[in-house]
Amino acid sequence: MCVLTGQLTEYLEKGSWIRRIFETGIELKKKYGSQAVCDFSLGNPDLPPPPIVGECLSELAQTASTPFAFGYMPNPGYPEVRQALATKVSQEQGVPLSATDILVTAGAAGGINTVLRAVLEPGDEVVCPSPYFLEYKFYVENFKATLRPVLMPAPAFDLDVGALAGALTEKTRVVLINSPHNPTGAVYGEEALDRLCVLLEEHSRKIGHPVLLIADEPYRFLTYDGVEVPPILPRYPYTVLISSFSKNLALAGERVGYIALSPDMPDRTTIMNGLVFSSRVLGFVNAPAIGQKILLKALGENVDVASYARRRDMLGDILTEAGFEFAMPSGTFYFFVAAPGGDDIAFVNRLQEKRILAVPGTGFGAKGFFRLAFCVEDDVIERSRAGFLEMMGKA
Ligand SMILES: Cc1ncc(COP(=O)(O)O)c(C=O)c1O
Repeated sequence: MCVLTGQLTEYLEKGSWIRRIFETGIELKKKYGSQAVCDFSLGNPDLPPPPIVGECLSELAQTASTPFAFGYMPNPGYPEVRQALATKVSQEQGVPLSATDILVTAGAAGGINTVLRAVLEPGDEVVCPSPYFLEYKFYVENFKATLRPVLMPAPAFDLDVGALAGALTEKTRVVLINSPHNPTGAVYGEEALDRLCVLLEEHSRKIGHPVLLIADEPYRFLTYDGVEVPPILPRYPYTVLISSFSKNLALAGERVGYIALSPDMPDRTTIMNGLVFSSRVLGFVNAPAIGQKILLKALGENVDVASYARRRDMLGDILTEAGFEFAMPSGTFYFFVAAPGGDDIAFVNRLQEKRILAVPGTGFGAKGFFRLAFCVEDDVIERSRAGFLEMMGKA
């Protein structure tokens, strides 16, 4: 007999697609050598953090023997880090924020769980555009609520507000958007965001309680061809912005991110108190001390974005030459490509025979597509060319 819950046992049995592909990748690399495998499965930023991160760590090493250097701190984060984040996010979003509008979190994932813990009742619904970052379902189910994904139109997967409107009910507590978008690379434009906010105002009035808008933005820094991510906080008072430094500073393992509340949110002091409490009782207690101290120096810096832009162009050229159907990503380091024949799982399995690893769209709630993460060395992209061409009968 097992002590795990039925729900968890089911999750483990079904497994996540990314984990399955990751395991296949380990097997293939063992068998053929890592140079023979083109692994596009994981969104783990491969570029080194900017040099300031190393400099900061050297400085921190000098203070490591000071009492409380890495001791407990106020649950919402070091006050100076909250202030620095408030200043940065105010500039980015064009709204005045103070330190008390910011909660430093254990990455974006910690931030999303913290907010959901604070606002979801069992039976509530969270609506999100689909395909979607597959962890959302598990985060929402942590709190006995239901994720209601709504399929966006291929191939660009731009925000279709009309489709979202059809999914709103009296149980809708949260709408969760993510732009730049994993897995499609879509960046939602001003007009669609404005329409979404009008819809949320209207729906909140209709059901008699506010629908919270969560904007999950860990890829805000990574857009191409001059595309900009419009600010979200000024658009709707019940907006919570969540982001992290996993991707832009390549600190994914250090777990630092933040929640920022709209300055127009009614009762935001109480709401912030609720979030701080949630973060504490979920066991995060506070975001990591070292990560926060890095932020004080490194805020505003990014990994070498030009490398991602170059890789996007390289992989885009190969996919075009091979004859795949896809929209060029406007942001993130993902391509979401139509699987020829429509069976994404079969296609991804056949790709593995060419030693190319991709994740089926089914794992993101969108059958018929596959995701390629191009946070890999240029050489991996170059080596994948022959395999992609062969798959499409072009070699
Ligand atoms: C859309 C999206 N949201 C949240 C996360 C989690 O980010 P973090 O590592 O900061 O928790 C990821 C990570 O890949 C992501 O792609």
